[in-house]
Formats: sequence, structure tokens, C-alpha cells
Amino acid sequence: MSPNESNGEPTSIEVQDSIPVIDYSLLTSGVANERSKVVQDIGKACEDWGCFMLVNHGIPETLIQEMMDLSDEFFNMTKEEKLEFEAHGVFDPIRCTSRLNLVNQNKDMLWRECLRLIVHPDFNCPKKPLGLSELASDYVKRTRAVAMELVKGVSESLGFEASYMNHELNLDASFQLLAINYYPSILEFDASLGLVQHTDHGLLTLLYENGVSGLEVLHNGKWVGIGSVPNAFFILSADHLEIFSNGKYKGKLHRTVMKDERKRITLVNTNGPSLDTIVGPSTRLVDGENRPPRFLPMKYSEYLECQTRLVTAGKHPFDEIRIHI
Ligand code: OGA
Ligand code: NI
Repeated sequence: MSPNESNGEPTSIEVQDSIPVIDYSLLTSGVANERSKVVQDIGKACEDWGCFMLVNHGIPETLIQEMMDLSDEFFNMTKEEKLEFEAHGVFDPIRCTSRLNLVNQNKDMLWRECLRLIVHPDFNCPKKPLGLSELASDYVKRTRAVAMELVKGVSESLGFEASYMNHELNLDASFQLLAINYYPSILEFDASLGLVQHTDHGLLTLLYENGVSGLEVLHNGKWVGIGSVPNAFFILSADHLEIFSNGKYKGKLHRTVMKDERKRITLVNTNGPSLDTIVGPSTRLVDGENRPPRFLPMKYSEYLECQTRLVTAGKHPFDEIRIHI
């Protein structure tokens, strides 16, 4: 099937030559040899690419479509209505950043609005538009379940038991964010830079887009565009997977460039440890001189504050915690 067709059957797709595709249903099928094969594939995808497409994830397309529609309605509210959720700090339960504020240190205009919600351990969401809160609550429960299954697979791919990362990083109280990004049409604003290059905090990011592509990842020194694949999540390995795996799996650098005349909406879930977890390289992956630690441990909440502080100066928290060997 071509990437642009969908007939409601489980998807089997060749994507952009080589961006790995992982079939989620094989991870949860209960068939041992299918699972060990897909665990291996996840490990390889994390190591070689730091990202992959996830198909057959089981989250209903209708739920995602409704999330897209209500998100669109949210951003179409008046500026005054959105002002109630104006951004103040990194731990605001609900934070809306308007494109008017978004000028980076190079004075690039960044045409993006973002609604950022803390959705776990506590769930937060605006009451407007009607129905968004109920829908988002269902959506993030499902994406968290998928993320946690993937983390189990990642844990096994590193040679650990499936529950090891959950236990070490206190994932029952996992800090989960839902960022809903809205990039207006380039016809509306004559600017194409949506989001400057960055890596995400947390372990794995789950990204879903409204059929309008724009995401690029840095792969082997080149920016590679990620085509829009129907009903697939795009999964990115993030900073705390790099730290915990002691550099084996890298946080993937990505950015958004708008080329399409249609507006782009993305649902982006970051999934981290609990806020009070001190994250460093797994003790099982570090030993004396052969495998020295590559990162200093840092509490996840401090990392988030540090990231916010450094990002305006164009720096990365790794500048503070990376151990140069
Ligand atoms: C993010 C992100 C990309 C996009 O929200 O961290 O990378 O295209 N978003 O929305
Ligand atoms: Ni990102």
C-alpha cells in the first residue's frame, strides 16, 4: 500500500526508504518469538535512527480525529479567551503560548501556537471548547499505555527485564505532557520556520500530525523530512533515554519547517520519569574504566527548569551534565 492510502486494514507501509517502522501489535500479541523480534527492531531503531514510525497501535482514528478538530477549535478562540492560559512557568498545569511571543534568539519569527498540558500524574485541561477535556483525558491514557509498553520493549532491548525501567524511573508516577502545536498556513503568515531544532526531555515522544508534514530529523548529518503516514505515530527517542542508556540511544534532534499551504496541527506527548526521580546512567550499564558514566545525575524536575533557562541562550542541558571522557 502506498503511504497515502488507508483502507482501514492494519497498515503495512514502506516509509521514506529507511525510517524504521515498528508494528505495535507484535509487541502485545503474546507470541514470544514475535515479541523478541520486535524488541530487537526497537533497539536497532533507537540505536541507528533515534526514531521510528509506529503502526497498528490500536488507538482509534476517530478519537485522534476528534482531538484534532477540538484542538483546531481551541486555537480559533479569541486572543482574549486564550489569555486565561497565558504561559508563566515550566510547571504551569496549562500553558498556552501565542505566536506573537515567539521570536527566538536569532530574531527568527516562529509561527507556532502551543497549548501545553500536564496530564499525568494529575490531569489538566481547559474546559473550553466543550468536550476537549474528556476527549484529551481518554487520549492521553491511551498514549501513555502505548508509551509504557514501548518502554518495556526498550528496557528488554537494552538487555534488562521488561519492568526494569519502570521500576528505576518510577514510571507509575510518570510526568506526561501533551503539547498541541498549531502552525498556521504559510499563506496566512509568510514564514516557514515552525520550531527550531531541539531534542525532547523524557524517554520517548509520541507525535501525531494532522496529515500535513513538516517534521525533519537530523540523520547522518542531514535533515530528513518525515512524510505524513496515515494513522501512524512518529516516535522519537529523547534526552532521558540517552542519559539512562549511558549514550547508547541518543535523544533525536528534530525541527519543524512549514512548506505546506495547509495548517499543521500536531499532538505531541512527552513521557518522562516521575518529577522527583534522579536520572543518571543505569548502574547496570556503567562499570569502572571500561564503561564510565557519560552523564551526571540530575533530578528530572531540575532538568526541566534547567532546559527552560538554557534554551533562551541557545544551550542544551547536556552542556551542564555531560561528562567529557
Ligand atoms: C515538540 C515538537 C514538532 C511538531 O512539540 O516538541 O517537536 O512538528 N513538535 O509539532
Ligand atoms: Ni520536540
